Amino acid sequence: MRIAIIGTGYVGLVTGACFAQAGHRVTCVDVDRSKIDLLNKGQVPIYEPGLSELIAQGRRRRALNFSSDARAVAKGVDAVFLAVGTPSIVEDGSADLTNLYDATREIAPALRDGCMVVIKSTVPVGTGEEVQRLIQSLRPDLDFDVASNPEFLRAGCAIEDFKMPDRVVIGVDSERALDALICLYCEMGIEPTRVVATQRRAAELIKYAANGFLATKIAFINEIADLCEKVDARVGDVALGIGLDCRIGRHFLNAGPGFGGSCFPKDARALAKAGKEHGAPMRIIEAVLASNDMRKRSIADKIQAASGGELRGKTIALLGLTFKAGTDDMRDAPSIALAEALVKGGATVQAYDPVGIERARPLLPDCVRYYRTALDAAQGASAAVIVTEWEEFRHIDLARLKRKMAAPLLIDLRNILSEEHLTRMGYKYCAVGNGTSPSPERALQVGIRSWSKPQVGTYRTKAETTKRTPISVEQKIVAAE
Ligand SMILES: NC(=O)c1ccc[n+]([C@@H]2O[C@H](COP(=O)([O-])OP(=O)(O)OC[C@H]3O[C@@H](n4cnc5c(N)ncnc54)[C@H](O)[C@@H]3O)[C@@H](O)[C@H]2O)c1
Repeated sequence: MRIAIIGTGYVGLVTGACFAQAGHRVTCVDVDRSKIDLLNKGQVPIYEPGLSELIAQGRRRRALNFSSDARAVAKGVDAVFLAVGTPSIVEDGSADLTNLYDATREIAPALRDGCMVVIKSTVPVGTGEEVQRLIQSLRPDLDFDVASNPEFLRAGCAIEDFKMPDRVVIGVDSERALDALICLYCEMGIEPTRVVATQRRAAELIKYAANGFLATKIAFINEIADLCEKVDARVGDVALGIGLDCRIGRHFLNAGPGFGGSCFPKDARALAKAGKEHGAPMRIIEAVLASNDMRKRSIADKIQAASGGELRGKTIALLGLTFKAGTDDMRDAPSIALAEALVKGGATVQAYDPVGIERARPLLPDCVRYYRTALDAAQGASAAVIVTEWEEFRHIDLARLKRKMAAPLLIDLRNILSEEHLTRMGYKYCAVGNGTSPSPERALQVGIRSWSKPQVGTYRTKAETTKRTPISVEQKIVAAE
């Protein structure tokens, strides 16, 4: 197929590069000329593991091109994927569709008969109809289809997610568009059983409902973590204990500094707004948003309390700034609210992130200082705070870190280090949702013993039930970790 992708952000670039690798002729378009210039020089404006290599491969094979002229590119293509940003409108939280409609107006005059416009951006229910109306009004005689094909990739493992998705959702009202899209994905090796074909409106809502649900899981476990701290229980054990129930599942039950990123906050806000608009209040989502906002504030209080109740005059090292590991995306990252609160409280903030510093600079207070390594950022600090779960922090040289710091206080907002180990090394260790007893090792042993007693070889997670293989002790240990 000849494919145009409009919007070369996280979704557009990954989509374009993967389609090109699958043998299609793809041109990615963006209004931001500086991005297109970079891409045409072989540089990639975002960090996503494996993406640079995939783009380089596509360019070498001349299967992947970049342009800032959407109209010229749309001429003669079989499909146009709209992957532009749909940010929140600050005033009311609804999705701003200006980019989407601008792109539609730009491509409409160039579309050929039989072509398909596919909305990959996350858009409110009914947007597909609006796009269809808009094109019809500009090209009354054009024979075309508009499909909804929301994207579920996760930043940090976007390529893998795109090529091996849990599901592909296709919302259409034409058999022709459905066939073309099923064919496009199944030729990439995606099993037809993973395709959810539905109406366009349901497809649009699936994306919001999915993100709303995942945000709810995070907010839920964060509140359970708060309760754990009060009642001297360990949130990791609680998460494991509920997560092994296949009706609940293990994912997204990691307590932390609250959800952020380019999707959950804005999509939850848009879902709440849509509920209000349509007279079906999303009370759970509204509570999730309130809970998450509160959490971002309470994390700063936690750091203050751990630092002896006073931030003024203290130096705090923030290790990790991006909203999660594996990405340079700083949109709505918890580190932003945290840095602001720490600075407001009178602390000096020294920060490090392996890939996110350039994107963090314009978003964090001007007085934050940035360092090239975690150890440098911790120099003279009275507390080091792990904000993002970067792999390198799991292996940080704790002895050197301690020597660099003014006081050995480590606040682990991602629960990635071992309390026992840190305590043995002389640190004061403060995690999220951890009571003081029993120790992690003891909890792990108890856990393994109790799971393996009656059910060894028969207890299975949902995935294992499907495969009919027994869970191993090693798997249980990994799960426990
Ligand atoms: N980032 C993710 O992990 C993710 C995952 C799933 C879905 N989504 C959704 O996909 C959409 C895109 O997200 P993203 O993170 O890739 O956004 P992004 O901000 O990284 O990229 C969007 C790109 O669109 C470009 N653009 C804006 N208006 C344009 C126009 N009229 N013509 C051409 N280009 C235009 C921008 O310059 C920008 O480069 C959003 O709706 C988002 O909610 C994102």
